[in-house]
Amino acid sequence: MAYLELHDIKKSYYLGNEAFPVLKGLNLSFEQGEFVSILGESGGGKTTLMNIIGGLDSNYTGDVVLNGQSLRHDTNKQLDAYRRQTIGFIFQNFNLISHLTVLQNVMVSLEMTTLTRKQQEDRARELLNQVGLAEHIKKFPNQLSGGQKQRVAIARALASDPEIIIADEPTGALDSQNTQEILELLDQIATDGKLVITVTHSQTVANYGTRIVRLTDGQISEDQQIKQPYQVGNENELSTHTLKFTATLKMALENMRYNLKRNILIIIGAAIGIFSVIVMLGLGNGVQGYINHEIYSQVNPNALQIAKNVSDSESANPNKISMQSKDKNRLRKIKHVKNVADGYYVQGGSQLRLGRKTAAVSFMQTFNPTILKKSITKGSAPKNGQILLTKEIAAKLNKKHPYSLIGKKITFYQNTLNRQKRPVTLSKTLTVSGVAKANTGSTSMTYQTMKAIYQAKKIKIQPNFVTLEVTGSVKNVKPVQNKIKTYRNSRHKQQYTITGVGGFVDTLNTYINLAVNVLATIAGISLLVSAIMIIVVLYISVSERTKEIGILRALGASKGSIRNLFFSEAFFIGLFSSILAIGLAEGLAAVANHIAQSGIHYQIMQIVPGNILFGVIVSIVISLLAALAPAGKAARLDPIESLSYE
Ligand SMILES: Nc1ncnc2c1ncn2[C@@H]1O[C@H](COP(=O)(O)OP(=O)(O)OP(=O)(O)O)[C@@H](O)[C@H]1O
Ligand SMILES: [Mg+2]
Repeated sequence: MAYLELHDIKKSYYLGNEAFPVLKGLNLSFEQGEFVSILGESGGGKTTLMNIIGGLDSNYTGDVVLNGQSLRHDTNKQLDAYRRQTIGFIFQNFNLISHLTVLQNVMVSLEMTTLTRKQQEDRARELLNQVGLAEHIKKFPNQLSGGQKQRVAIARALASDPEIIIADEPTGALDSQNTQEILELLDQIATDGKLVITVTHSQTVANYGTRIVRLTDGQISEDQQIKQPYQVGNENELSTHTLKFTATLKMALENMRYNLKRNILIIIGAAIGIFSVIVMLGLGNGVQGYINHEIYSQVNPNALQIAKNVSDSESANPNKISMQSKDKNRLRKIKHVKNVADGYYVQGGSQLRLGRKTAAVSFMQTFNPTILKKSITKGSAPKNGQILLTKEIAAKLNKKHPYSLIGKKITFYQNTLNRQKRPVTLSKTLTVSGVAKANTGSTSMTYQTMKAIYQAKKIKIQPNFVTLEVTGSVKNVKPVQNKIKTYRNSRHKQQYTITGVGGFVDTLNTYINLAVNVLATIAGISLLVSAIMIIVVLYISVSERTKEIGILRALGASKGSIRNLFFSEAFFIGLFSSILAIGLAEGLAAVANHIAQSGIHYQIMQIVPGNILFGVIVSIVISLLAALAPAGKAARLDPIESLSYE
């Protein structure tokens, strides 16, 4: 059993239904340490045969047997490994990756070995040194001469220390000096115990090897050993793996740098969509925050006033409208409710007097949490024996200096009915505690004071409303309201009426959120444009890089790695465009907030970390989705067709 055996290899190319047989049943065996030259006329099928031996072409009949094992039974993965580990291919037309430097071209192959990064670099330099390119490792292929390119190809073929080197016309394009040097290199490889198979037209070149095989008309016409094969060395193959994900990421970055201008434009284009979405979300937060801020400065949305829900005929009956302990206990038990406090209001019949000036008060109530402390422009909330005035009322008592009333004593009068239903006037001297804005504050005193004023005429009052506060966020208000609404009276109507804006604020927030999401979605439509753009660019990239894909496949990269290469590129487009979008959005936010600060004194655009995370994820996911089809196309490319792509 020979090291490598070919059994009855037949291969035809088809044009339509017509078959063009190229190889017509070849039987050959090779041993390690041989330097075999395949001679034959142009178009005779030499490259075709090399592709079959090299594991690039599986579309043939017959068998290639390595160490007694047929390639036929190999899975795709095993064939990838065979190309990586066993075969080193030196192509007729070099097939270097044009956007990688000499060193990087050799490294591509080494990245598929288990060597450490440092060992890989050392080995690449050593190999390039061996082929005499030590000074050119930073050059790109188009900066090299033909002979130099051929040497890079040799260094790359040797990188993973393969057992078989296939060299298709390694000296075809070289002068005699260069030819001599390359042949010496190949001979050296064979001396190391490798199997070297070269294809050539030239008898001189062929004479350099240990054996000449002549291919005529699709068959072996001559097989002649001209020298003894070299000794087989001790085998210590490098173990290999397909391109790792980190390697494809790096290659994607290199390619993006190579097409820098185009990629920058793509990233800007894709960033616009993400930018609009982030700006919309940030603006939504700001607008909602601003509206809430405005509402909270006018009212306390967490405070509710609860009164009995009574019919008109009942409204005059204090027993019907009063809030009893039973009512209060029931309210106290509701989740998130605290500070259930008595309240009392009087509509009409109230008057204030200071010296000769009087002011009628249309609505008088006890001080409670729905009256914001912020509404008190001067002075403080009323304590027992004190009264808080609205500015309007204060102005009626002292037009020029309403605030000078604070600390002064004024007399409060209240017309009402006593227990015998006779009209009486209550009166009490009170100290002015402060002055409040008319729209948000209220003329008010403590419940204790109110009670005492009535008590003086032996009238006992019952609270005709209570206030309660809802703990936590304004979102808790609605459930509390709903719970209170479930209490029914004997007429199956709601037992209580509720005043407070918390529920409204919650509903308002829901609508603002809805509007923001609609706007963000509209902005998101531009993401569709980004996605299409990325798809187009990646398709272009696939066609541009067809050759590179073929080279990588020939070097033993798996289909999955090729797919990853394009996913990596898409990933970076997504990542970079989201970073750009965030930068732009933050910039716009800074400007907008600066302007808003001088106008409404509020940060109108609030981009929170959640928005940023959302932007990054959406951007990357869209890019990856856009890459699905192009990456799939790249992975499915046939290696031989890709290599012959011009
Ligand atoms: N993909 C293909 N489809 C159809 N015919 C093909 C294809 N590839 C090669 N052929 C044909 O098969 C024959 C053998 O081609 P091959 O490239 O193997 O020749 P070769 O011996 O390497 O020639 P050269 O010395 O010029 O490189 C040629 O006639 C060629 O036209
Ligand atoms: Mg050829």
